[in-house]
Amino acid sequence: MTDISKADLALLAFAREAQEKAYAPYSGFRVGAAIYAGGEIFQGCNVENAAYGSTVCAERGAAMAAVLAGNTFFDSVAVVGDSQDPTVPCGACRQFLAEFNPEMRVVMGGREEHVQVCTLDELFPEAFVRGYLDQDVSSR
Ligand code: THU
Repeated sequence: MTDISKADLALLAFAREAQEKAYAPYSGFRVGAAIYAGGEIFQGCNVENAAYGSTVCAERGAAMAAVLAGNTFFDSVAVVGDSQDPTVPCGACRQFLAEFNPEMRVVMGGREEHVQVCTLDELFPEAFVRGYLDQDVSSR
C-alpha cells in the first residue's frame, strides 16, 4: 500500500460529499466516488433501482461525468462506502476504470478514519484493455 498524500485526502473529501447524495433504498449501503481528471474533480454516487441489476455504482457515475467533460485519462479515484474497513471498488468498476488508466491511484475510505491507497493495477492486474483489440486478428 502507498503513502497517503494531502491530495488523496482532498479527493476523499469530495467522495464523502458525493456519498451524501447516494440513492440506496434497497441495500442501505451508500457509496460516493470522486475522480481527478484533466485538473478537475468529478463526483458520483450509487443509484439503486427496484430492478436491482439496473443499479449503477458510484465509481461508474463519476466516470461518466468525467468522460462527458472530455476526459479519457483519469489520474485518481476516491471511493467511500458505509463499511467499517475502506470500501474497495467492485470488479465491474475496476474493469470500467481500467479503460481510463490501469495505473490510476485509488484512494479508499469507509466509516472510520482508516484510509488505504494503492494503484488500480494492484487491485486489478492484467486488465483487459483496448490493446488486446488492436492485436492482429487476420489469422482467425
Ligand atoms: N457499490 C458501489 O457503488 N460501488 C462499488 O464499487 C461497490 C458497490 C454499490 C452498489 C449498490 O448500490 C451498493 O453499493 C451495495 O452493493
